[in-house]
Amino acid sequence: MSFKRVFIKMNDVKKKQTLDPVKNKFNRRVLFPTFLYDIKVAEAAELNTRLLQDIYKERELDEKGLQRSNLKGLGGWHSKNSLHQKDEFRPLANKIVRAGDRISSNLGYNPEFRLAIGQMWTIVNPPGSANRAHIHPNCLWSGVYYVQTPEKSGDIEFIDPRTQNLAHQPAFHSGQKRLPATVPVAQITPSAGQMLIFPNWLYHSVAPNLSTDTEEKADRIVIAFNLIQVRKQRQTK
Ligand SMILES: [Fe+2]
Repeated sequence: MSFKRVFIKMNDVKKKQTLDPVKNKFNRRVLFPTFLYDIKVAEAAELNTRLLQDIYKERELDEKGLQRSNLKGLGGWHSKNSLHQKDEFRPLANKIVRAGDRISSNLGYNPEFRLAIGQMWTIVNPPGSANRAHIHPNCLWSGVYYVQTPEKSGDIEFIDPRTQNLAHQPAFHSGQKRLPATVPVAQITPSAGQMLIFPNWLYHSVAPNLSTDTEEKADRIVIAFNLIQVRKQRQTK
């Protein structure tokens, strides 16, 4: 794949895309935004019932799992990275690829390419477990689909990727609602059936699972994935 350096003259960008009027002749432009796609997956309840069974079956087969952002000592289990190649995870994999198609078109990617799943895995966090801050190498986009999210089982937290911005923070008006774009850490309390897709370079972590539910109902369960841009297969005659 070849890349060329692209420059955009901001004066030529349509006002409504980047300008937020503050007052007359005083505008706030938005440069270099971080996109996070938030998707409500259709018919998630039925899908999740099946996924739950398949995920626990997977854990029985591979109790050791992998050590990544999960903290094994606290009980967090991370499966192998090839779930998308297994038939039982195909229905979810198809939904992820369809979401990738919409993102490609939303961002104006070359239609000869598509976002394909490079890796897909599951993480089971029982009470007390969490995930360290990390990024996902070797892909363009990363995502997570929520299968089971008991109350207080851990928000996902995204950290401002502009590290220079973190070096010195201004004092904000305590009586005013903070503009979402000015916060250094953005938290999302996920719900089952929700899918988030974000750039691979965006640091994120998961807060400890403080669920007070009992046994497996207390587990926070996700399927995570990486998306890579690949050339579409040519149609064979
Ligand atoms: Fe992650």
